[in-house]
Amino acid sequence: MFFKIIASLCLLQSLQTFAKGQITGHGGKRHVVMFPAGLKPVTRAEILISSLQDTTVRMKSKFPGVDSVLQVQSDVGAVVSLSSEIVLDGNKREDKGIFIESDHPISVYGHSGDECCEGEGFLAIPVDFWGTEYDIATHINSTVAVVAVEDNTEVIAKGFWAGVLFESNYYANGDNITFILSAGQTAQLQTPLGYLLGTRLHSNKPIGVISGQYYASPSRSKYNQMIEFIPPASSIGKNFIVPPFFNTTYLTLHYYNMGEDNLVTTRGKNVNRSSRLQKRGGYMISAGASNPYYGFAEKPVILTATPYTISPFLLFVPSLDQYSNNYKFHTPTKQNLTHYIVLLVKSKDESGITIDGQKIYSKVESLDALLINDAIYLVISAEVSTGQHYVTHPDPNVTFGLILYGFDDTQSYAYPVGLRLPPFSAPVAA
Ligand SMILES: *[C@@H]1O[C@H](CO)[C@@H](O)[C@H](O)[C@H]1NC(C)=O
Ligand SMILES: *[C@@H]1O[C@H](CO)[C@@H](O)[C@H](O)[C@H]1NC(C)=O
Ligand SMILES: *[C@@H]1O[C@H](CO)[C@@H](O)[C@H](O)[C@H]1NC(C)=O
Ligand SMILES: *[C@@H]1O[C@H](CO)[C@@H](O)[C@H](O)[C@H]1NC(C)=O
Ligand SMILES: *[C@@H]1O[C@H](CO)[C@@H](O)[C@H](O)[C@H]1NC(C)=O
Ligand SMILES: *[C@@H]1O[C@H](CO)[C@@H](O)[C@H](O)[C@H]1NC(C)=O
Repeated sequence: MFFKIIASLCLLQSLQTFAKGQITGHGGKRHVVMFPAGLKPVTRAEILISSLQDTTVRMKSKFPGVDSVLQVQSDVGAVVSLSSEIVLDGNKREDKGIFIESDHPISVYGHSGDECCEGEGFLAIPVDFWGTEYDIATHINSTVAVVAVEDNTEVIAKGFWAGVLFESNYYANGDNITFILSAGQTAQLQTPLGYLLGTRLHSNKPIGVISGQYYASPSRSKYNQMIEFIPPASSIGKNFIVPPFFNTTYLTLHYYNMGEDNLVTTRGKNVNRSSRLQKRGGYMISAGASNPYYGFAEKPVILTATPYTISPFLLFVPSLDQYSNNYKFHTPTKQNLTHYIVLLVKSKDESGITIDGQKIYSKVESLDALLINDAIYLVISAEVSTGQHYVTHPDPNVTFGLILYGFDDTQSYAYPVGLRLPPFSAPVAA
């Protein structure tokens, strides 16, 4: 256990605040998930489900072998293993969306990989929090996967930086890729040729979107798929804490600008860098991974973190206004994975937080502090066992961030455990 104080004095940007209590963004009664392809064949794909109440869950897909009904108990959660055939295959539309419907709100996570070297996971954003405009987070060896929940969903992808083949047609920079999806239909776009960086997706009905890299190697030798299920452009934040990661020497932070003139700043130990971004696309910095950073922007921006480690993962960094009050989650189950949580919490609220009914301080393995304006945030890391965990604060008005990541000898995964998002139907501050 170690303790550090990083005094990073920062002007706190005005936070977009959503009504607390009602909105969770990571609990829903309707999810649709899909598994994008990595470079190497996947041998395992699993869906992890947690619920605050015992509930019936119905899984349905036009893809054979998925339909099932399960009773999920609140105290254990559920793990559903799927055939690797469910993984998307090529740059085309397929009927591989998986509907997950429940009587009570549930949290849903996906994890896929092989037995050796590739693995990644994601938080599935419930359908209620989907939108119709997305800026994607990607880089070289780009991957984007889209799924519709209603028939006749028209999707337009435009603004990508280089060419891409989709259903045998070649699209150059400046072209629009337009296609119609039926309910549960997926579309995948991947390109080694260049970047899908800068791509904006528009649709006439809500869509679910996963983006990242199907194959990436920021580390010394191991490659990995790096993906996240991302919130719509209307739900992106401006203030972020990037935690330190175990087993990691340094990390890259990517800011994905959403097209407007924007100033992004990163502060932390030995780092105080600002950059003015004008167009869509990414801005990257590398920094040590043994202490936290405060990232902030004038306008909404997607921030992702990728560690240089055993094998890289992509983390969608939750913004301060996306922090929630309680998180019940099930870790991936692949043998030998070591799982870590990171809690991002104001120091005054730390003592109330419990994990599986115990005070969080009994579990702490690393603790950093970050001063953001006048608030001291604690960044607390702890190992958690494979299985279900519940992290909560008794005061529903207290919010804190929670990130889950894990490693084994050859692969890794990461995702925010939950995101408090405004529902699609609500008016949203830009
Ligand atoms: C970071 O740099 C800005 C200007 O470049 C300066 O105003 C600010 O005081 C610096 N902050 C820290 C914590 O060093
Ligand atoms: C691409 O779609 C946008 C609407 O989203 C439209 O304004 C633009 O003209 C289209 N571009 C091309 C080349 O068709
Ligand atoms: C992109 O993928 C190719 C394999 O298709 C790999 O050789 C290359 O190293 C990858 N690039 C990066 C930056 O990871
Ligand atoms: C990862 O970090 C943890 C905590 O520092 C350590 O116990 C573990 O041995 C490390 N694993 C590897 C593969 O280096
Ligand atoms: C887990 O670790 C043990 C011991 O290192 C090894 O024999 C086994 O193959 C590993 N299992 C997996 C699925 O990686
Ligand atoms: C939470 O905040 C609301 C609105 O500010 C307030 O009415 C309520 O009493 C607070 N609840 C608790 C438990 O502090």
